[in-house]
Amino acid sequence: MKSKLAVLISGSGSNLQAIIDAVAAGSLDAQIAVVISNRKDAYGLERARRAQIPDRYFPLKPYRDAQRSRAEYDADLAALVSEYAPDWVVLAGWMHILSEQFLGRFPNRVVNLHPALPGQFPGAHAIDDALAAFARGEIDHTGVMVHLVPDARVDEGPVLAEQTVPIRPGDTHETLAERIHAAEHRLLVATLKKLIG
Ligand code: GRF
Repeated sequence: MKSKLAVLISGSGSNLQAIIDAVAAGSLDAQIAVVISNRKDAYGLERARRAQIPDRYFPLKPYRDAQRSRAEYDADLAALVSEYAPDWVVLAGWMHILSEQFLGRFPNRVVNLHPALPGQFPGAHAIDDALAAFARGEIDHTGVMVHLVPDARVDEGPVLAEQTVPIRPGDTHETLAERIHAAEHRLLVATLKKLIG
């Protein structure tokens, strides 16, 4: 049986697209069971629809407005993901930190992608943080990693794969981001292939 993936996104979904393309090409023996976004305008939702993959929009705001807790949101998100019985939950640009209420439902089954090397530049500004460190002469390269998400630490957990990405003099956010995203697309698909076997 094909491995089932639930892919969680918040934005453009170019990494989702890399998975969609690998599945369509037959190089990744998986089925994307659902794409879930916490943002309604995430372009990744459109990518899912075009590929005829079920998509769900699951925002945090109604929970905040009703003074319901983050734990409740995470538990309900886990229930939503569970409806699709995924073998792997792939965080492909999902911009919320997930708590135990979610992670406890999928032990060792949540995979995150991060645009920096292990232990460097956690959080949402990894590319700009790397550029700033380069400007200070502290680093000459950055990278990308794919790791398991065992707990709510940000961008930490057992590393499944990593790849360095050079930073070049004159790089801007855009030029470095483009190089990083290309590396992410390759590394995410390659790592999923290894996990799925
Ligand atoms: C990627 O750089 C990912 O590592 C980060 O958010 C970005 C998502 O890009 N956490 P996309 O939505 O897959 O294009």
